[in-house]
Order: sequence, then C-alpha cells, then structure tokens
Amino acid sequence: MGTIEVVLGDITAERVDVIVTAANESLLGGGGVDGAIHRAAGPALAEAGAELAPCEPGRAVATPAFGLAPVKHVIHTVGPVWEGGDRGEDEVLTSCYLSSLRLAAELGAESIAFPAIATGVYGFPAQRAARIAARAVRSLPIIDRIRLVAFDEETFEALTTAVALGDDRGWSVP
Ligand code: APR
Repeated sequence: MGTIEVVLGDITAERVDVIVTAANESLLGGGGVDGAIHRAAGPALAEAGAELAPCEPGRAVATPAFGLAPVKHVIHTVGPVWEGGDRGEDEVLTSCYLSSLRLAAELGAESIAFPAIATGVYGFPAQRAARIAARAVRSLPIIDRIRLVAFDEETFEALTTAVALGDDRGWSVP
C-alpha cells in the first residue's frame, strides 16, 4: 500500500527518486521552487530542459537531476496561471499531478516529491490547490511513496487537511 506524506521544508533536501518542479514553458528555470531546484541541480538542468521545451501547461517532462543526486530525475511540469477558476485551471492542475505520476512510474520511480504547484507566482488558491493535489495523487496509486512538500505553514495545513479528509480511500497517512 502506498503512502502520502505531507511535509514542511525545502524540496531540494528531499531524498526521493524524483523531485517535481513547478516550471514555466521554457523549462529554463525561474524563481520560487523552480529557482531553488535549478540552483541545486546546476546549469545542466536548464540545458536539458531547453532541449525539451516548450512544455505546455498540464504536461510533464523528465530530465536527469544532475547536482541533486541521489535524486534520479527532475520532472518539470507547468501549472495553470490562476485566472479566477473558470478557465479550466482545476483540470490543468490535476493534469500536472497525474502526468508527473505517470512519467515517474515510467521511469521506475518508487518515491516522488511534489511542491504546491501553481500556488506561488501563478496565484492558485492554496486550499483549492491542496484539494486537487490530494485527490489527484490518491486517484493514481502507482508510486509507492508520495511526499507533498509545503514551504510555508498555510500550505502545510491545507495539504494536511486535504489528505486527511480523503484517507478513507485505502491510503495510509502517517
Ligand atoms: N521547496 C518547496 N517549495 C517551495 C520552495 C522550496 N525550496 N520554494 C518555493 N516553494 C513553494 C512556494 O512557496 C509555493 O507554495 O512552491 C510553491 C509554488 O510556487 P512557485 O515556485 O512560485 O511556482 P508557481 O506558482 O507554479 O509559479 C511558477 O514561477 O518560479 C517561476 O519558473 C517558474 O514561471 C514559473 C512560475
């Protein structure tokens, strides 16, 4: 049975097979979590990303993790820019999580860490994004260890609540 863990911390410190970054379509890096991951992985990450760009919102592509070893891969996914909630943002965000999980499974990953995709620069409301994240990762139990990494208390509470609300679906929440 897989596990879903909610943690508070810096995703670049995660010791998992795959770290997911909240990228932009250029895959060249940026601020926020993308900036932190690119800084930790080194310039090779942007070079590898550039070869796969552009990445459309909701899609996911994988590169090696370079300087983030022992992490094996970085999965770059592009979240939706929040425009009020009636422009398909929920569906795009759901697709970010599902596409990343499917790609990680193809890569043989046994563990994966997600940031709170789209909730920073892209402005997606934290509570709504947390519910989408929890529902998405529970709907596709194909990776044994899933870690949802919050960088602030509000996000941590939102994710913890969202994961706990649905833990009657056979997922253990340690
Ligand atoms: N570890 C974990 N989470 C982090 C870290 C970190 N080191 N740094 C930031 N975060 C959190 C933010 O606090 C936020 O909750 O990641 C979440 C996503 O925020 P952003 O990084 O701003 O990502 P997003 O909202 O998807 O915007 C993407 O910002 O950085 C650029 O290149 C990126 O253009 C893209 C856009």
